[in-house]
Amino acid sequence: MKRVLSGIQPSGQLHIGNYFGMMSRMIQYQEQNELYCFIVDYHALTTINDRKRLESNTLNAAMDFLALGLDPKKSIFWIQSDVPQVTELTWLLSTVTGMGLLERATSYKDKTARGISPNVGLFSYPILMAADILCFGGDIVPVGKDQKQHLEMTRDIAQRFNLIYGDLFVVPKADINKSAQLIPGIDGQKMSKSYGNDIPIFADKKIIRKKVMSITTDSTPIDEPKDKRTPIYQIYSLFLDKKEQKELESRFDNPGLRYGDLKKELADKIIEFFQPYREKRKYLENHKDYALTTLKEGAQKASLQADKYLNKARTAMGLNYAK
Ligand code: TRP
Repeated sequence: MKRVLSGIQPSGQLHIGNYFGMMSRMIQYQEQNELYCFIVDYHALTTINDRKRLESNTLNAAMDFLALGLDPKKSIFWIQSDVPQVTELTWLLSTVTGMGLLERATSYKDKTARGISPNVGLFSYPILMAADILCFGGDIVPVGKDQKQHLEMTRDIAQRFNLIYGDLFVVPKADINKSAQLIPGIDGQKMSKSYGNDIPIFADKKIIRKKVMSITTDSTPIDEPKDKRTPIYQIYSLFLDKKEQKELESRFDNPGLRYGDLKKELADKIIEFFQPYREKRKYLENHKDYALTTLKEGAQKASLQADKYLNKARTAMGLNYAK
């Protein structure tokens, strides 16, 4: 059995790109693997400096995941900062991490280019991420394509540590979903909350409809076949089985398709697809204790695992001398 592990950014409203890109895949992993999943509030501090916002984003991310099917009986789910051992491991790992490695991080460059002020935490973000993974012996890490480099850095750091201090850490593998890289937003660019082109999952139904109605389409006349490279085709496809997919294809290939009708259908489809999750989400909102207890119990379990790895690392480095 493999240990699958991933961190989730508490970034506010969840969108369908998050769901099909990472979450649904991760939630499926819990059936046949050990799933470790945590909300990365330490990481969020590199860009959020507002207590209320961080707290509510964290709780919302937890409720989103639980509503979408993360099952605490089959997985370990916690808030990153409830297992502070990872910060000690971050320090230990930082002493085997070259400056050059961090300086090459494109995510740091992207974030500062977008105007985020470059604090030291933002710069050393990848070491904390490496600690997140190595502290629990994660084998497989499902992430989006944008995290590929961070995973390579984690592998580098683990290998370097193992070379100096002996084989201690599992060198993890990234699991990047190829098809998910293609999920476009309503304007055809990659779906992202920060671009404002996302379709949120749990927003008010009116907002979902409005977003879907504003998906960019071309001006092909009704009596001509349509281009399947348009975002509406790709987004709609996410919700279809094989047979329905064929039907959609033929509607695009034949004259008569009206984009306006298709958008209305798609909005209904999205709302219907997420309806059971929406109900679960409502229930969780009215029973916040459930999420909080789950997270607390998760932290206790994760903590035992973290102690094991951290202690081994401390001893290997010569720190547990007088214990
Ligand atoms: N950096 C990741 C992101 O932005 C989140 C993250 C933090 C993470 N620690 C992790 C992902 C450990 C996987 C494993 O999405």
